[in-house]
Formats: sequence, structure tokens, C-alpha cells
Amino acid sequence: MHATPRKAVIPVAGLGTRFLPATKAMPKEMLPLVDKPVIQYVVEEAVASGLTDILFVTGRDKYALENHFDTSADLESRLEAKGDQEKLDLVQAPTELGNIHYVRQGGAKGLGHAVNAAASFTSDEPFAVLLGDDVVEENSDLLKTMIAVHGKTGANVVALVEVPREEIHKYGCIKPAGPEVDGVIEVSDFVEKPKTELAPSNFAVIGRYILNPGIHELLAKQEPGAGGEIQLTDALAKAAREKLAGGVVGVVFRGERYDAGDKLEFLKATVLLATKRDDLGPGLMAWLKDFVAKSK
Ligand code: G1P
Repeated sequence: MHATPRKAVIPVAGLGTRFLPATKAMPKEMLPLVDKPVIQYVVEEAVASGLTDILFVTGRDKYALENHFDTSADLESRLEAKGDQEKLDLVQAPTELGNIHYVRQGGAKGLGHAVNAAASFTSDEPFAVLLGDDVVEENSDLLKTMIAVHGKTGANVVALVEVPREEIHKYGCIKPAGPEVDGVIEVSDFVEKPKTELAPSNFAVIGRYILNPGIHELLAKQEPGAGGEIQLTDALAKAAREKLAGGVVGVVFRGERYDAGDKLEFLKATVLLATKRDDLGPGLMAWLKDFVAKSK
């Protein structure tokens, strides 16, 4: 068995320009899906998967995110005085999610650069990386499965989804070294955001990774790639091609997933999550049916 990751790295230095003007003065990670910020879903998933230490790789103007995971003495004492335990629990929940740490990225120079800003935090241990734009269904065991596959293989592990050919250009894409066996595919290469005709498969990488400490050495030497940025995908491609830092395998995910970085997907995620809730689901469902019927 290989060491079990304890630490999660969550890059949050991005500017969120796709959601302007909402993100002019608010971090995109704080946009709510129903009534909970996107980033809280992601941290809850990390903690539910057994990760105990979370490092946010932040940038400028992320105070709202930092405050969200900190105590709010004034709000808490007001709710206490009112005896409103239900709301007090909601306010306190984010502060009880593991040990939260912060490091500043110092410029948005790419995902690989953000991951490398975590090098002294992760040190010589394997670690998870979770991207806030990808939200997977609550109670999904994707990350737990990836941790188990890492335990067995010692490889870097990426999360894969099968996407229609015309969507592969939005993602990192893998070249499989062989067939899928029990939901796991060995990876021989990657292409970041390939043109449809150049994509080596329709398996797209989504924002969950288990990485070996050796990835930092590869990232440190990595030249800027797509968009002039240090790409994590490029370092993983080197690891896959040359079997460095443990090589790379992919875990195929077939559950529900939302791209919270895309407006239409964000709307769909909001509706999906709301329809699953006891307090909102029945009312929203009834309205949706009526709305669709009237719009025909
Ligand atoms: C990043 C990765 C890409 C991956 C994607 C998943 O891209 O570089 O390989 O497919 O996350 O969300 P970004 O969406 O940050 O451009």
C-alpha cells in the first residue's frame, strides 16, 4: 500500500471573469448554488473523502472566501441570543471543516503554478487537488475511489468523464494506454484543450487529482504551455509518457457533475440541486412543469 493523502490543495486565485459583473467585487467561488457557496461543496467533498488539511491557493480580493471559513463572532452571538440553533449551525458548519490553510499564488500563472505554490505544504506526501469549477454530486465517492486507486497503484490519479467529441476542446484529454478495467484506465499521454480532430480520446480530465510529491519537480521545470501558463496537464503528460513520479492512471466518473464555471451549467446545477431538496424541491418542480407547459 502507498501512503494515503491527508492534504488537499484548492486553487482559488482565478479572476472569475466569466461571471462578471457578479464577480467584480466577490470571488467566483462564493457564488451560491441554491444557498451554499460553490467552494463549500468542494471543501465538504474533500473532508468527506478523509482529507484533513485544506490549503487554499489564493490571490487578491479573496477575503470573502477566507471569512466564510472563519468564525463570525458577531453573527454567532446574535443568533445565540435569539436561540436560533438552526441558523447558528449553518454559520458554524464551514468553520468546522478540517484545518484550513492559505498561501498566495502571486499572479495567476496557471494551474501548474498554483499547484507548485503548495509544494512546501504538501512536502513529501501525496495530495489531492480539487478545482472549484467542478462540482460533483453530493455523496459521490469519486475522490474516495481515486484515493483507493492511488493506494493500490502509487500512480498519479486523474478523474475522467466521457464527453461528446465536440466538447473535448474545453478540457485536458487523455491518450489511453489500454482499455478501461474496473473503471480505471492507464494513461500514456495528455493533450490540453485539443482541437476535436486532434483529440486522442473522448475522455476529459475533470478537476480532481491525486498527485505524488514528485510532480512538483516536474512542474518546477515545466515551460509555459497553452495560454502562456504553466499547465498541470503538461507535467502530467511528461509523467505519463516517461513513467515519472509514479506514472498516471485515470478513474472514470459516470455520476452527476456540474461545471460551475459555465453560466448555463451553473443554472442547471442550481435547478438540479434545488429539486433534490425537501424544502424547495416540490415547489420548484411544480413551477417548472407549469412554466415549461406554458412556454410551448
Ligand atoms: C483545467 C485543466 C484541464 C481540465 C479542467 C477541468 O482547465 O487545465 O485539463 O480538463 O481544468 O475543469 P481550466 O478549466 O482551468 O481551463
